Parts: sequence; C-alpha cells; structure tokens
Amino acid sequence: MLATDIGIQGSDLLTLNDLSAQAILDLLDLSAQLQHVHDAPLRGRTIGLLFRKPSTRTRVSFEVAALELGAHSIYMTEEQTQLSRGETVADTAKVLSRYLQALVVRTGAHAELEAFAEAATVPVVNALTDRFHPCQVLADLKTVREAKGTLADLEVAWVGDGNNMLQEWIVAAAQLGIRLRAACPAGYDPDPVVLSLPNVVAHPPTIVRSPAEAVRGADVVITDTWLSMGQKDSDQKRQAFEGFTVDEALMAKADSEAIFLHCLPAHRGEEVTDGVLDGTQSVVLDEAENRLHVQKALLLAILGE
Ligand code: CP
Ligand code: NVA
Repeated sequence: MLATDIGIQGSDLLTLNDLSAQAILDLLDLSAQLQHVHDAPLRGRTIGLLFRKPSTRTRVSFEVAALELGAHSIYMTEEQTQLSRGETVADTAKVLSRYLQALVVRTGAHAELEAFAEAATVPVVNALTDRFHPCQVLADLKTVREAKGTLADLEVAWVGDGNNMLQEWIVAAAQLGIRLRAACPAGYDPDPVVLSLPNVVAHPPTIVRSPAEAVRGADVVITDTWLSMGQKDSDQKRQAFEGFTVDEALMAKADSEAIFLHCLPAHRGEEVTDGVLDGTQSVVLDEAENRLHVQKALLLAILGE
C-alpha cells in the first residue's frame, strides 16, 4: 500500500464522512504497515497543532507521529496565539498556511473548523470538535479490526451521550456498513444534523433508551464521558445518565468475547467502572496507542509525494 494510492493528498479531514469506505480501510492498512517505520518521508515539513481545548493523547500522538515521519510540529494554544486577542480564524488560517504544510485543529464549534479549512491553503485535520472526532474513530476502527480480525458483521454498542464520539462512530459505521446500536438518555441523542447526512440516512444507527438493549450480544461496547469539554455539569444531566454506567453486569450482557473501548480520558466510577476499564475485555490502551499509528498514516497520505 502506497500512501499516494489512497488518493487523499492535499485533502482536509474534518470527519470520516469526507472519506470513502475504501480510503478508510486503506488508511488502516497503511497504519499497520507504518507502525514500526521510523524513516523520514516527511523530512523538512512542518505541521501546526492549534488547540483551543486541552489534550493528552491527540497532542502527543500527533507530535510523535510527525517526529517519526521526519516532520517538525509546532503546538499552539489559543492563549499563545493572537486568536486570544481577536485575530480572526480566517486571517490565522491564511497566515499559518504560509509557514506550515498542514494544520491540525482542536476547537469547539465545528463551523469554526470549517472556517479554518475554508481559509487555509494547506490541509486541515480535525483534532476534535463538538461534532466530530475522526482521528479517534480511525484509531478505534484499527483497534476493533485488530482485536476482532475484521470490521465486517460486527455489532457495535454505544452507551452514553450523543456526543462527538458517537457522531463520528455513526458516520464511520454508515460508511463501512457496521451495525451500530446506541443507548442515549432522552434529551441526549446525537445531533439531527449528523443523523440527516445522506450516508447516515442510508445506513442509520439504531437509537434506544436502554443500555441493556444496546449491549445485548454486541461484539464491541463503547462509552465516553457524560460531560464533554466545554459542557457544564448539572444535576439534571447526572440524573438523566443514571443507569448508563458501563459496569461488569452490563458487559456480561454483551457477547462473551466482546471488547470494551473508551477514547479516554475516563471518569472512573461515572460512565465506566474500574473493573471494566482495567478488565480483560478492555482494549483502551491499544486504542490510545493506535492514535499514533493511524495519524502517521493520515499525515503521510495527506502530505506524502
Ligand atoms: N481521546 C482524546 O482525544 O484524548 P485527548 O483529549 O487527551 O487528546
Ligand atoms: N467527548 C469528549 C472526548 C474527549 C476526547 C470531549 O469532547 O470532551
């Protein structure tokens, strides 16, 4: 597999909905191929990481991915740039495009990421918005494929908030034909904008209210924090999520060989128990490691010659 064969050179990645099913699968193949490669095909390139929200995994895995490909990376927070003093997204994107070969952005509103992509003259990669988290779900797909040997004929269960992670899983499942059942409390469903994307309308997730119903017989069980970055804690939300903790009893309703995924950071004792997170079915550390491998493939496919 050559990075250029994937056909996404120079492209943005704002959501996996932007990629064909074949491109997603090719990226997973390339990431496996690159896993132990530390030569420097991107020598002399510089990748900007512009983060308006905190990060452990995304920031470090992108920095290491760039390094292992021979590229340099520059990490910028909102406070360290003139964005903090009101310089516009468009001006920031146009100027940074004169220095950088790609811009990886973590922000809140997805529309702001789209504005970065619109103004930038270099590829823009979504490092998480309130709507989507494509790099994480690429890593999730790699993790599931490694653990289960396939992405075909799998039943994937989501338990929790209708957030950026579920929404990215919804578009990925639609692209790849994966059966996805999501249990979300009433009032915390995924965004109708995502549910009305043509690919999703053609292959919609099943949304239920009962975690047990979502998980029954599933091959993969996934959850995420009930409070995403930027959201306010409230008694109302906590009450709505009562019964949504992924614990040993809930995991026991899944297939006996089911695996457990969580993008991390976890709020132990809230959306997941220690027993599940640290248990034998959990693949969360492989999932975190795979961020590095898929992002190497992504950077090479976008920037390679
Ligand atoms: N999973 C993930 O995106 O983690 P960070 O917020 O630490 O980057
Ligand atoms: N849904 C979480 C994911 C964190 C990686 C958030 O947006 O905070």
